[in-house]
Amino acid sequence: MLYKKKRPWDSIPSSEITPESVYLNRRQFMGASAAFAAGAALLPGSAAASIRRLRGQQEPEVGEVTYGEHLREDLNSYQDVTTYNNFYEFGTDKRDPARNSGDFTTEPWTVEVEGEVHKPGTYSVEDLAPANLTEDRIYRLRCVEAWSMVIPWRGVGLREIISRVEPTANAKYVAFETALRPAEMPGVRRPVLDWPYREGLRIDEAANELAFMATGLYGQDDLPNQNGAPLRLVVPWKYGFKNIKSIVKISFVEEQPYTTWQASAPHEYGFYANVNPNVDHPRWSQARERLLPFGRRETDMFNGYAEQVAHMYAGMDLARWY
Ligand code: MTE
Repeated sequence: MLYKKKRPWDSIPSSEITPESVYLNRRQFMGASAAFAAGAALLPGSAAASIRRLRGQQEPEVGEVTYGEHLREDLNSYQDVTTYNNFYEFGTDKRDPARNSGDFTTEPWTVEVEGEVHKPGTYSVEDLAPANLTEDRIYRLRCVEAWSMVIPWRGVGLREIISRVEPTANAKYVAFETALRPAEMPGVRRPVLDWPYREGLRIDEAANELAFMATGLYGQDDLPNQNGAPLRLVVPWKYGFKNIKSIVKISFVEEQPYTTWQASAPHEYGFYANVNPNVDHPRWSQARERLLPFGRRETDMFNGYAEQVAHMYAGMDLARWY
């Protein structure tokens, strides 16, 4: 019923990516290294060199993921998605999460659901995101730092989780919290942020059809640790920092919850943090973005998802959303 019209995660036009990156990402679907080498030989020098740098790295099979041919060309490579990360609990360099999260234990894992819900309790990941509800969605990720990627997630709609735990009428917001384990997370031994990492959504945002809880990536059931295993929020119309990783607690609350980045720099990182090309970060423009690994593009209002989400902000002051 809900998905009669073309779904936003099925419709990223290939015109939005540079020829180099189209070519680069195609290699995921070519498989044979001989074919890949032939492709690289046709490219201009710099792109061929980039491909050589990335060559030989393991990527999973994505054949079973169902999406259109043109979308395949738009995807960032598995390599991009799993080696260029923000997960400050493992360090602040983009390569730190992949390097330092190998010993992070994600099994067993439980999520505490508390507050204004009829079914509070300690849930397993499988309880919240059962295999029969799992689907694949391709979403843009637009970081507040002005870079972006296109990522094929696997997981469940956040609304499925919400309906399982049955919020009361008093639940106006949902708050999320990341694990805090100094023994396994070298980044939290320094006071870079006010740990644990916390994020939140208004209840209608959390119930929006686009809000997603990822449990896998690239046609696979498991998330790499650096991407927020085993359970990570994906809200593609908001800046990347709202996409909280490795969630251990979900609280349904009456008041707007504390969020880590807003507390760290309230004039730079708002609670709503909707992608908005017209409201600059105090230290840089948000009008354009770097499309990793190559290319630049204009930033779209709500990161291109206005049709699904703009109605939730009717009457709010655009300039104060940040
Ligand atoms: N969640 C936690 N717990 N810690 C973090 O540092 N970084 C955020 C978000 N979730 C972060 C986090 C930021 S700034 C971004 S852009 C995205 O994760 C990056 O997700 P990715 O590394 O999977 O691309």
